Amino acid sequence: MRVLGIETTCDETAVAVVASRIGGDGGDILSNEVMSQIAQHAAYGGVVPEIAARAHIDVLERLIVRALDAAGTDIAGVDAIAASAGPGLIGGILVGLTAAKALALAADKPFIAVNHLEAHALTGRLTERLDFPYLALLVSGGHTQLVAVLGVGDYKRLGSTVDDAAGEAFDKVAKMLGLPYPGGPHIERLAEEGDPARFDFPRPMFGREGADFSLSGLKTAVRQEIARIGTPTERDVADLAASFQAAIVDVLVDRVRSGLRIFTQSGGQPNGLVIGGGVGANGAIRRALTRLCAETGLRFVSPPPGLCSDNGAVVAWAGLERFARGMTDDLTFAARPRWPL
Ligand code: KG4
Ligand code: ZN
Repeated sequence: MRVLGIETTCDETAVAVVASRIGGDGGDILSNEVMSQIAQHAAYGGVVPEIAARAHIDVLERLIVRALDAAGTDIAGVDAIAASAGPGLIGGILVGLTAAKALALAADKPFIAVNHLEAHALTGRLTERLDFPYLALLVSGGHTQLVAVLGVGDYKRLGSTVDDAAGEAFDKVAKMLGLPYPGGPHIERLAEEGDPARFDFPRPMFGREGADFSLSGLKTAVRQEIARIGTPTERDVADLAASFQAAIVDVLVDRVRSGLRIFTQSGGQPNGLVIGGGVGANGAIRRALTRLCAETGLRFVSPPPGLCSDNGAVVAWAGLERFARGMTDDLTFAARPRWPL
């Protein structure tokens, strides 16, 4: 079974073809074309919705052709067509969703509307064999949540951020430090040279009941420290980056630990922890979660960074998981810019 997946909810235009493996042992990525618009948004310090929607229109058709070619097939050779229908920026979603519906109609193929967060949550099952239930930590520029993944289409949100998303915190702090957008990778690189213990930033929600996150207080603390310093030197910037990242890492680990407790208290035993979303590319976070899992005997499923950030393969895979269970959608399915998992 092969599914074509289209992703246009934010600033990556992406198309992929994914095939299922016999026996339920994950999937094969036959092609995975991603075109990032970062360069077009960088000057504005964030994603500009109107620019994003237009840029998706400019490249989507080319990417679909490329993804089919690279997979050695044409549209007749795929079994279904999936697209992210939200959550995200409405203009971009409409581009990918409309293209997917048009293709499905013209080629007479089933259409599947995928929740973008569901695609991140199911990624662990694309890369390896992973049975339900499991825990997923979704950390991106727009979302930060901990989800119990009980089955395809069966998700229980254990906690989410009450203010900023993790990627948003990385990006805002990076901006304060004069680093380019998106700031996450720059902070990570600088943090390697900095002293994580120099600034004792707050760890909001640490030790709190439940699995909610809060990151805006941390961001404010960094802002106040920068104001106190005045003009930070290179050394200061590296230490600020390292101390900020150390605080985020501690918070994420604590929240996952608490989420695990909730999971087991409600009678479930997770088969693993999956990380998804762009922030999941962060090495310090991955190492800390690896340690936590080793300590708690939980399997850590960390998809390669390219499958954590936005891409078509995870959308195609989520589409395939749904399609395999007969979960197809009508062409009237509307874009859902807000679509909680
Ligand atoms: O999932 P994603 O590609 O797009 C959204 O759906 O938001 O995530 C993008 C976010 C940005 O905020 C970016 O700064 C962050 O992921 N990010 C990172 C790293 N790479 C990307 N944050 C921390 N460390 C990284 N290495
Ligand atoms: Zn995403």
